[in-house]
Amino acid sequence: MPRPVFDQLWTNARIATMCGDDLGMIEHGAIASQNERITWVGFAADAPIADAAVVHDCAGALMTPGLIDCHTHLVFAGNRAQEFEMRVQGATYEDIAKAGGGIQSTVSAVREATESALLQQSEQRLHVLMREGVTTIEIKSGYGLDLESELKMLRVVRELGRRNALGVVTTFLGLHALPAAFAGRADDYVDHVCGKILPVIAGKGMADAVDAFCDEIGFTQAQTQRFFETARRIGLPVKLHAEQLSNQQGAALAGKFGALSADHLEHLDVAGVDALAKAGTVAVLLPGAFYVLRETKLPPIDALRKAGVPIAVASDLNPGTSPIVSLQANMHLACTLFRLTPTEVLRGVTVNAARALGLQEDRGSLAVGKRADWCVWSVAEPAELCYWMGGMKPDRIVAGGKERK
Ligand code: NIG
Ligand code: FE
Repeated sequence: MPRPVFDQLWTNARIATMCGDDLGMIEHGAIASQNERITWVGFAADAPIADAAVVHDCAGALMTPGLIDCHTHLVFAGNRAQEFEMRVQGATYEDIAKAGGGIQSTVSAVREATESALLQQSEQRLHVLMREGVTTIEIKSGYGLDLESELKMLRVVRELGRRNALGVVTTFLGLHALPAAFAGRADDYVDHVCGKILPVIAGKGMADAVDAFCDEIGFTQAQTQRFFETARRIGLPVKLHAEQLSNQQGAALAGKFGALSADHLEHLDVAGVDALAKAGTVAVLLPGAFYVLRETKLPPIDALRKAGVPIAVASDLNPGTSPIVSLQANMHLACTLFRLTPTEVLRGVTVNAARALGLQEDRGSLAVGKRADWCVWSVAEPAELCYWMGGMKPDRIVAGGKERK
């Protein structure tokens, strides 16, 4: 017997590799990995079965890359069900924020929570997403808004990555809301974040990227720019909550700083689309937040398509605008509300989501050298993964070359 050169080989799968411009389907495909990397992909008929230590027969099931949720606020304490009730009765998200609720309510809850309570509450949500086939997730801070509490959140994010079989990317959302201690002094807060918080967080290696909320109830374009300049000096990539509730020309700024992604984008204009296209910035669409806020203004999807801007889809999981603990519900909503095609959505939660995290060379598609992250689904058609809202789970999940049990 020759020594096996692959840890495992999975054969007889319909593999949606996500290579090329569409699903990159290999009907009757097989894939092999060694350690945490893919080492062979091709037709089942050519599969090097004799070289594999273990062979799995997928019996014609669909295989996709592991799903990537590239925009979440998964780490938080408590919930905002009371505000939900107020909104049902007519109050708007902005009304609640201006009255000191909204993000501020969660900031109070996070500051009060012990680190272990924060970890435990967040991990429950993480496990729900993992069962749906999520193998990489981005998690933002931004409910601490002071050095200690932001560090507490970021430590929890890193700990989630250590304890669970998935990739976790941490984003320091320094400019999320103005903390009460800086009321009326937004510029001072921005100075504080740039001078005292971001350098410490970056120095400890706790952030992979930074993010800001550029909006009327968030921060201005000029304030966001100062924050981005600091990030650039430190060497951290930027992302931006842009044009969600109003148009602050956030996309133009994102483009100028070569942002990994600009997210939400309901109020994006033609110039903004152009800026994203020129910079190669990913447009991350968040249909769950659109739905929960009962928005009516759609992101300019056709213009994004025509300009060739890569589109990703994410859950935005958070206690205010997207209490939806499901990437798959968001995949369905992206089709139903935004009229993205199932193919666009599947690319949006794999290859384009990887790109929104700067990880496109590492994961998001099934090709030699990429991370061995994949899901096996007993569905007849890829579109079925977007068709159901709830109840769809992969039969088997491989993350980093290991099958999750
Ligand atoms: O992505 N827009 C700002 N941030 C979040 C909402 C956070 C919250 O309401 O707690 C979002 O929608
Ligand atoms: Fe968000």
